[in-house]
Amino acid sequence: MNEEYAVKGGHPLVGDVVVSGAKNAALGIIAAAAMADEPVTIENLPYVSDIKVLVQAIQAIGAVVTWHDMHTVTIDGSTISNFCVDNEYIRKIRASYYLLGALLGKHRSVEVAFPGGCNIGSRPIDQHIKGFEALGARVNIAHGMIAVRADDLNGCHIYFDVSSVGATINIMLAASLSKGKTILENVAKEPHVVDVANFLNSMGAKVKGAGTDVIRIEGVERLHGATYSIIPDMIEAGTYMVAAAATKGDVLIKNVIPKHLEAISAKLVEIGCEVEEFDDAVRVIAKKRLGHTHVKTLPYPGFPTDMQPQITTLLAISEGTSVVTESIFENRFKFTDELARMGSVIKIEGNTAIVDGVSGLTGAKMLAPDLRAGAALVIAALSGEGVSEIRNIEFIERGYETFDVKLSALGADIKKIPVDDENELRKFILKAV
Ligand code: UD1
Repeated sequence: MNEEYAVKGGHPLVGDVVVSGAKNAALGIIAAAAMADEPVTIENLPYVSDIKVLVQAIQAIGAVVTWHDMHTVTIDGSTISNFCVDNEYIRKIRASYYLLGALLGKHRSVEVAFPGGCNIGSRPIDQHIKGFEALGARVNIAHGMIAVRADDLNGCHIYFDVSSVGATINIMLAASLSKGKTILENVAKEPHVVDVANFLNSMGAKVKGAGTDVIRIEGVERLHGATYSIIPDMIEAGTYMVAAAATKGDVLIKNVIPKHLEAISAKLVEIGCEVEEFDDAVRVIAKKRLGHTHVKTLPYPGFPTDMQPQITTLLAISEGTSVVTESIFENRFKFTDELARMGSVIKIEGNTAIVDGVSGLTGAKMLAPDLRAGAALVIAALSGEGVSEIRNIEFIERGYETFDVKLSALGADIKKIPVDDENELRKFILKAV
C-alpha cells in the first residue's frame, strides 16, 4: 500500500528515544558476513528496508539466513553457490556494491546489478574499480551489470583520489581475502568504516588502522564465524537531535556514541541549543528560537553530508542568515524546493545554500526526494504550524526504523495513512491530541 506521513506540527518533542544500529555499517557487515566459512551472528541490526533487501539478496544466491528477532540475524555464507546478484530491489540500493568486494574476495568472481541509491549527485564508482584492478581483478560493465573477476588477488598499495566510504569498505573486504599485504591511503575515516573493519577482524581478518588515513590489511586464507553487535547510527541520532532543536523540545537520545556526534553537537551549541553528553546518550534542549551559522559538509570528522538537509531545515527557521556548503554531493539541495512550499527562504548558488531564517513554517504537501531530505521535511512539518503531508516515504523507511512510531512516542502528532485517502486525512486533522 502506498502510504504517506500526515503531520500536525507545533508540538515540542519531549522524552527519550533509542537509536537503532548504524545502517551504513550494517550494509558493509552483512556483505562481509557472506565471506565467512561458518555462520556469523549480527546483533543490533536496524530493521529498515535497505537491510532487508541486502539480506534477501544474499539469501537468493544461496546463503542460509536465520532471523532470531527484528534486530538479530545469523548468516551462513558457506552455501553461496551463485555469484550473480540482480533483482528489482537490489538495483535500487547503493550498498549492493559491497557484494562485489565480498564475493570477489571469497570466490574471485562476481556480477552485481549497477548500484542505485538516493539521487543526490553523480556518485561515480571509479575508486572502487581502481581498487579492484589494483588487486588484480578485471572489471567489466555491460547491460546494467558490473562483473569483476580475477584469477588471483594480490595485495597492493592504493592511494584513493577522494575519501570514499564505499570504496574504502569495498577494497577492505576484497583485500581481507587477497594474498599478502594491502595498504590503502587517503581512506574514509567514518565510524562505519571502523565498525566493518572491527567485524572483519572478529572473523579472523587482519585489518589495522581503520579510523586513520591509512589502512593496512594482511590477507588471510579464510574467515571464521563470529558474533558481532553493530554500532549505533550517528545519522539517526543526529536527526533526532535536530528534530528536538527544531521543535523547541527536550529529548534524551539513547544508545549513541557521543564522540561520533561532535560535529553535530558543536553546530547545535553554536546556534544556542543546550547539548548534554552522557556515556551513551545525549540530551538536546532548545528553549528559544535558535541563531544562524555557517555549515560545510566534509568527510568524518567533519559535518556529515547525511545531516545537511536536516541542519539546513533547522537553520531555515532560525534567526538570521546562514550559509550551508555541500562539498560531497552536488544534488543535495533539491529538497529546498519542497521546503519552500512551507514558506522557507533559501537561495541555492552552486553548492551553497543561503538560508534566510523565517519565523515559522506552515504545513504543506511535499514529496520526499531521498532518504535524508525526506527526514528533513518531516522535521520541518513537526516544527511548522498546521498539517503537512509527506509522500514518497519509502525513501525515509530505507534508513529510519519506525520513524513515525519513535516520533509519536516523543509527542509528535504524526500518522502513516494511505495516499489519497481523504477520509483518513480528515480523521487525522479532526482528532484531538
Ligand atoms: C556513503 C553513504 C552515504 C553517505 C556517503 C558520504 C552508504 C551506503 N552510503 O555513500 O549515506 O552520504 O557515504 O558519507 O554507506 N566518489 C568518487 N568516486 C568513487 C566513490 C566516491 O568520486 O568511486 C566521490 C563521491 O562522488 C562523493 C565522495 O566521493 O563526492 C564521497 O562518496 P562516498 O563516501 O563513496 O559515498 P557512498 O559510499 O556512495
